Amino acid sequence: MTTLSGPIPQFGKPQTLAFADPFAAMAQLQRYADDLKYVMHEKESALKQIEKAHLHSLTVLARAAEYRDDDTGVHMDRVGGFSGLLAKLIGRSDEEAKMLSLVAPMHDIGKIAIPDSVLKKPGEYTLAERAIMNNHAVIGAEIIGESDIPLFAMAAQVALTHHENWDGSGYPFGIAGTQIAWCGRVVAIIDFFDALTMHRVYRKAFSDERALEMMKIQRGRKFDPEMLDVFIEHLDEFVRMREQINSSSKNR
Ligand SMILES: [Fe+2]
Ligand SMILES: [Fe+2]
Repeated sequence: MTTLSGPIPQFGKPQTLAFADPFAAMAQLQRYADDLKYVMHEKESALKQIEKAHLHSLTVLARAAEYRDDDTGVHMDRVGGFSGLLAKLIGRSDEEAKMLSLVAPMHDIGKIAIPDSVLKKPGEYTLAERAIMNNHAVIGAEIIGESDIPLFAMAAQVALTHHENWDGSGYPFGIAGTQIAWCGRVVAIIDFFDALTMHRVYRKAFSDERALEMMKIQRGRKFDPEMLDVFIEHLDEFVRMREQINSSSKNR
């Protein structure tokens, strides 16, 4: 006689089962294992759905913030695509690059909380206005919230650190070098480049060459020097990607 005892996965109640035949016991055990596998699979796909829905709602919110500043909203798409590409070029895994391409567009989600009088103010900010504006990094991380899910943890990190500078002169914490999360350092380079080379209401777009000159001055100051070198070396790939993203946005 073979006896099996312990919880049956499906019902969770401890039971004792007795089998005259050890093969029957093994078969029953196999069925429990199959049931458990099925339940785990269902749970995983439900979690994936929740993750997708959460990502979608954050992206919509980020787009709402972006539309106040950029009436096409394409900056977000380019920052996503470019950040994923730079992540790959600096040797991060395909999965990390994919994650960054999904969360980098949310870098300025915190601007949703910045009043128009500051966000859209032409000309120089006062110190108080600058402080309000700079707060978008912390607010963004708060909106995304703390999460054990790597995708959302990365999103919060990007929102929080994309204005930190390599030499420690950035905000909100003034951290330096590799203290700044790699994903924040990538988005800092990409965001700066794309912001300079896009048309704004208050100024024309800078040429790529002029933008690069301005970025090179910031090598080791604002930007991670090695990452910046990789970006400059592969500029043609970013330019090609920009054309693709811009033309697909026109067809939306
Ligand atoms: Fe920002
Ligand atoms: Fe941006």
